Amino acid sequence: MKHKNILVIGEAGYIGSVVVEELTKKGYNAIVYDNLSKGHKEAVSCTFVKGDISDKRLLDKTMEKYNIDAVMHFGSLIVIPDSMKNPKE
Ligand SMILES: NC(=O)c1ccc[n+]([C@@H]2O[C@H](COP(=O)([O-])OP(=O)(O)OC[C@H]3O[C@@H](n4cnc5c(N)ncnc54)[C@H](O)[C@@H]3O)[C@@H](O)[C@H]2O)c1
Repeated sequence: MKHKNILVIGEAGYIGSVVVEELTKKGYNAIVYDNLSKGHKEAVSCTFVKGDISDKRLLDKTMEKYNIDAVMHFGSLIVIPDSMKNPKE
């Protein structure tokens, strides 16, 4: 099996870090993309790119550089009261 390169957005968080653990066990190459606004760098155990999902240029560059085959997206702000106070964010 060719080892696929998976871009995991928001991996420094709770769900993403578990997903990357499972991907790695199955032989996939995980490349992490996270702005670390909520996550923790210590949770990242593979290739890491610090970036925001709104940064299209950096996303394009990352996709090309790591030859990405698929994207799993967990980058998010999950606190509901914050979304009521600041819906634009
Ligand atoms: N935690 C749960 O039990 C649970 C259950 C069901 C669904 N979900 C969903 O899974 C997703 C992830 O949840 P979580 O609990 O892992 O959240 P989390 O806060 O632990 O992780 C979110 C990650 O996204 C990153 N992030 C936020 N905004 C970003 C941006 N603009 N660009 C790049 N990275 C950004 C944060 O730095 C953080 O590392 C959410 O969509 C959530 O609704 C979570």
